[in-house]
Formats: sequence, structure tokens, C-alpha cells
Amino acid sequence: MSEYPKRYTVTSALPYTNGPIHIGHLAGVYVPSDIYVRYLRLRGRDVAFVCGSDEHGVAISMKARKEGVSPQEIIDRYHGMIKKSFEEFGISFDNYSRTSARVHHETASGFFRELYDDNKFIEEVTEQLYDEEAGQFLADRFVVGTCPKCGNEEAYGDQCESCGSSLNATDLINPKSTITGTAPVLKETRHWFLPLDQYDSFLREWILEGHKNDWKPNVYGQVKSWLDDGLKPRAVTRDLDWGIPVPVEGAEGKVLYVWFDAPIGYISSTKEWAEREGKDWEPYWKDKDTKLVHFIGKDNIVFHCVIFPAMLKAQGSYILPDNVPANEFLNLEGNKLSTSKNWAVWLHEYLEDFPGKQDVLRYALTANAPETKDNDFTWKDFQARNNNELVAIFGNFVNRVVVLTNKYYDGVVPNPGTFTDYDRETLEALSKYPEIIASSTERYRFREALGELMNVARLGNKYLADEEPWKLVKENPERVQTVMYVALQIAAALGVLSEPFLPFTADKLRNMLALPKLENGVAWETVATADEQLTAGHHIGKGELLFSKIEDAEIERQLERLEKTKSDNKSDVQKAVIPQKETISYDDFAKLDMRVGTIVEAEKMKKADKLLVLKVDTGLDVRTIVSGIAQSFSPEEIIGKKVTVLVNLAPRKLRGVESQGMILMTQQADGKLVFLNPDETVENGESIS
Ligand code: MF3
Ligand code: ZN
Repeated sequence: MSEYPKRYTVTSALPYTNGPIHIGHLAGVYVPSDIYVRYLRLRGRDVAFVCGSDEHGVAISMKARKEGVSPQEIIDRYHGMIKKSFEEFGISFDNYSRTSARVHHETASGFFRELYDDNKFIEEVTEQLYDEEAGQFLADRFVVGTCPKCGNEEAYGDQCESCGSSLNATDLINPKSTITGTAPVLKETRHWFLPLDQYDSFLREWILEGHKNDWKPNVYGQVKSWLDDGLKPRAVTRDLDWGIPVPVEGAEGKVLYVWFDAPIGYISSTKEWAEREGKDWEPYWKDKDTKLVHFIGKDNIVFHCVIFPAMLKAQGSYILPDNVPANEFLNLEGNKLSTSKNWAVWLHEYLEDFPGKQDVLRYALTANAPETKDNDFTWKDFQARNNNELVAIFGNFVNRVVVLTNKYYDGVVPNPGTFTDYDRETLEALSKYPEIIASSTERYRFREALGELMNVARLGNKYLADEEPWKLVKENPERVQTVMYVALQIAAALGVLSEPFLPFTADKLRNMLALPKLENGVAWETVATADEQLTAGHHIGKGELLFSKIEDAEIERQLERLEKTKSDNKSDVQKAVIPQKETISYDDFAKLDMRVGTIVEAEKMKKADKLLVLKVDTGLDVRTIVSGIAQSFSPEEIIGKKVTVLVNLAPRKLRGVESQGMILMTQQADGKLVFLNPDETVENGESIS
């Protein structure tokens, strides 16, 4: 057996066509899957990377209802928009299909029919929620109510987005129709159920025993808790008028549940691709030597780890996913991303506002990816990542190498002399990176992999800074030939290793170095052997800037747009709840010495717009504390205020002033800082426990 699987089928969650793509989708699913696939291709692996639009389900019907148009109009609008923005952003799907496509209707119907004929479903008449005013059954997002598991009052009929539980509409407490706002009644109707409970031991053995160590803890943990809660039969048909008709006689007016048809969309998309490429789709889904990987966000875990695998298992001839590297959520400027509240950075708008800067967003989203916990996207961070990392580290190194090579040698790669120990160590260090980056990437640790890529650029910068060829060129031009030769090898390596993460940059860089376009499966390893890529005598091209500085004004414009969204929103955008930190012991807690104090003096710190220098009476002493609250409070208004102080925090210097403690504050939804005020009657020095 070879070290690697024979082929890969990589899927990205099919986006609903009820709105455009935003940075949350990108960070959670599309950027990581694209990195993974581009990497696999560079290593010459056989990959099918498939996706498509998810066009059925209540999300689409609701959007159509709201706008007073047909569902078809909605899906056509967003399918086109989404497909185009993915292409422009460089998400390199082998196929982007849609679930309204004929091949999909046939595949999904056929799948249902096979399970039906094989008696894999339970057929049952049960009572379902019915909206008498609208004259229709309420499924999934047509009904909201209180989650029986966590008490969230806005849980949907199929899922609670707050705790992630998958629900049946009849589980909701106080259900309400989202069409008319009325309380539904119960009415009998016949449906087909997949008896998930019968798959319990299969799922336990496959996931809980088989993937304890290679699946991400967040994914494994969610699956375990569902299994421990006990699985119940789940309806896979609905009384709705938008979807794939149930292919059974007597099922008029019923459609397949969207979460039954959508994952089959991965299979239909693979078929469409294989047809076009003259390949056979079946090995990509049925050969044991194929590695199937689903990239999804955390709200999709139950569907990809429990329901879809149970469907595949029931059918019997399909492989199961080898991994489901689900990400957590990305927030935006401290608030939850929301399509309906327009709290988002939309991909199509980004592409317009920042033309040619696809890689900057790819970089910022990967460097700050919500791989293990929810993360926050801020425009300031985006700007800093560009200016301080891409421009200052990566761009700066490449630029120096290309400019100096043109200046000293008319763009011809010089002949190296004898390598010093330092040269050899540098080339040796460089040769390790393909393996280092590969290892992180194969384990779905894309943040880590990107950090290592930047270390290659750092290696180059350090080498040039240590060798200073610009100084050496007068007294020892021969030595400079060797130095530039080594530096050029590092630049060439970046042209390969950066491709999965920064594909536009890699292209530009290779073009600058006059290297041929990357071909699948020939380049990754060559980085390990210096001078494989750029040999002496090779003519490189002229320098052009890989990255350019992003000015404050551009960031301000984006922030203003968000401010406007906030004030437009009648219902406030939802503040992202900061996840609870790791559990600490009582002993850890007891180490904190918090006291009541009074601010007795306050003044602005010179040349720092955020800092105030305070004198605080802590009951123990009057001490200096530097606090970052100058944008929320003037010195005058806080003198005399009772506050809570952490008094045993190690002192540290801020702008030359030693700060001896910390004032405890909280931040409100609108960003305003608020003091934690003890009651006026509490005396300074009283401790808090
Ligand atoms: N449309 C779903 C969502 O956005 C994802 C569907 S993934 C698939 O949450 F597996 F069903 F295709
Ligand atoms: Zn819940």
C-alpha cells in the first residue's frame, strides 16, 4: 500500500442561495478547503474538489416570500452571484453545481428510492405543527420556539443555533409560525423517517472508537454528546411546495427534507464533474482507497457526522468521511455575523472595494481562522496583517531580492562561490519547510501552516539583514554573488510554498522570477533541493510590488459602513458572546487580589490618545495605574469614582510610566467602557472574594 490514499474527494458545505457569501463562510469553510486542495494538487494527488448551491429548503422559500418573488428567482440571483465571487476569489472548485440541476434531482430521488425499496425507512402518520391561517404545515425554519435543551427562545424547527442541538419541530416549547406569527396546531400527516437509533452502535464504533484521536475535539465532542443523548428516528420528508418531490406514489405535495437532499449534492456535483472530464465518478465515492473530507462550519456537524453517514451506511456501497474538520464561527467587530441584519463583510463587495487584494483577505482569514474557538474579524487587524506582515515581511524580502538581482547582475542569477556555514545552515533550514508546512496542512492546521510559510520569508529577511549585500558589494563582490544566490533560492521557494495560501501572489512571484507556471505534482518537493528552481544564468524579470500598504482612510470607510448598518438596524446586531475560558482551580482564583479603591487623580498620558494616568487609593496605598480608557472618559469625570482594582498584577511600564495594577471594566455592545462600581458605602481596601 502506498503512503497516501489513491484519491481524495474534498467537499465544501453547499451554501444556501438566500444571500451572498460573507467572510464567515470563507473563514469557516471555503478558504481552508481551498488551501487543502491546492496543497494536494501541488503534491500530485488525485483530487475532486466539489461544491454547489443549496437551493431547496425553507431558507429559500422564506426569502422569496419576503420579497414577493418566486423561489426560482431567488436561487438564480444568488447562485450566479455566489459562483462568480468564488471564481474571482480563487476558490478552485473542480465543479460548482446546484441542487436544482437535473443530475441532482435524479441522484437525490434515486437515493431516496433505493432506501425506500430496501425498507430502510419507517413510514408513519404523526402529528406535525400546522399553521391554520397560512393553511400549511410548519417545518424547519417556518417555526421558531424555545429550545428544550438550552432555553434559547429563537430556536428553529430543525436546529437550535445557540446550543447546536438538532431538533424536531414538535420538540419546541411555545412554537410560533414565522409566516403568520400565530401558534400552530397539531395535525396528522404521513412521513418517512430514517431510524437513526438503529445506527447508534455503528456510529459509536466508527467515530467514538475509530476517530478519537484524529478528529478535532470540537467535532468529536459534539458527536459524542448527541450519541449520549440518544438518537431518535428523523423525518426525511416534508409537507412543503419547494424541493425535490418524494418519489413514491401517494406522496403528492411532499418533498425531500433539505438536509436529505443537500449532502447528496456532493455526489451529484462529482457526477457532473466526472461527466465533463470523461472520468468515472464512482471510485471517488465508493473505493475504499479514496479519502473523503468534508469542510463545514460547526452548525453543520450533526448533519455530516451523524445523519449523512447514516444515509450512506443505509445505502451500503458508499465510503464514509475520513475527517470532518469543522471550524467554529467568525464574528465581525465583536458582533455575530448575520445575513439578515446585514452585519457582514460581503465577498462581492470586498472584491470591488479591494481589487487585486484577494490574497490579503485569504491571509487575514487564515491567520485568524476560527479553528479551535470563535474568533473576531476586525478591520484594524486586517490592515495590520497586510501592512505589518504581508508588506513588511513577505513583500519586503521578495522586493529586495528582485531589485538587487536586477541592479547587480542585470537580472541574471549569479554563480555562487563556496558556501559558508551560515549559507549551508540557511539552505538546510529552507529545505525543511516543505515537510513542516505539509505536516500542518495534512492535519488541517492551516493557521499553523501559514505561520510557517511566513517563517520562510523571515528566514530570508534575517539572512539579508545579517549578510548586508548592499554594504558588501563594494569590498567583496564575489561574496555577494553567493549571498544573492542563496536569497534567490528562498524567494523561489516562496513561489511554490505560498501557492495554497496566496495563489495570486505565488503566480505573480513566479512570473517575476521568470519561472514557469506551477504544474501539479512537480514543484513542492523541489524546494527541498536548493538550485533546483533557479540555476545560475537564469534570467529573472523586473520587480513589481507583491503587496501594497492599506491606508487608514480605506479602513475608516469600511468601519463607517458598519456603523451605518448598526444605526439602520432596528433590531440590534447581536453581540458575540465571548466563549467561556478554560476552567481554573479555586487556588488559581485565590491568587487574584482584588480591592475596592477610589480614583483620586487622573490626567492624560502625553502623546497617547488611549491612556490615562490615574492615582488610585487602594486602602493599602495610593498608587499609579495606567488605564486604556481615555477614549471613553475625560480625566475630570472620573476623579472620585469608586472602582474595583486588581492590586497584585505584576507592574509593567506603559510609555515609560510604571502601572501598578488594573482597573476592572466591562465593555457594552456599542463598544462603550463601563466601570464595575462597588457600592459607595464600601471602604477602600475591602477585598473582593
Ligand atoms: N446550506 C447549508 C448551510 O449553509 C449547508 C449544506 S451542506 C450539505 O448551512 F451537505 F448539505 F450540502
Ligand atoms: Zn438550544
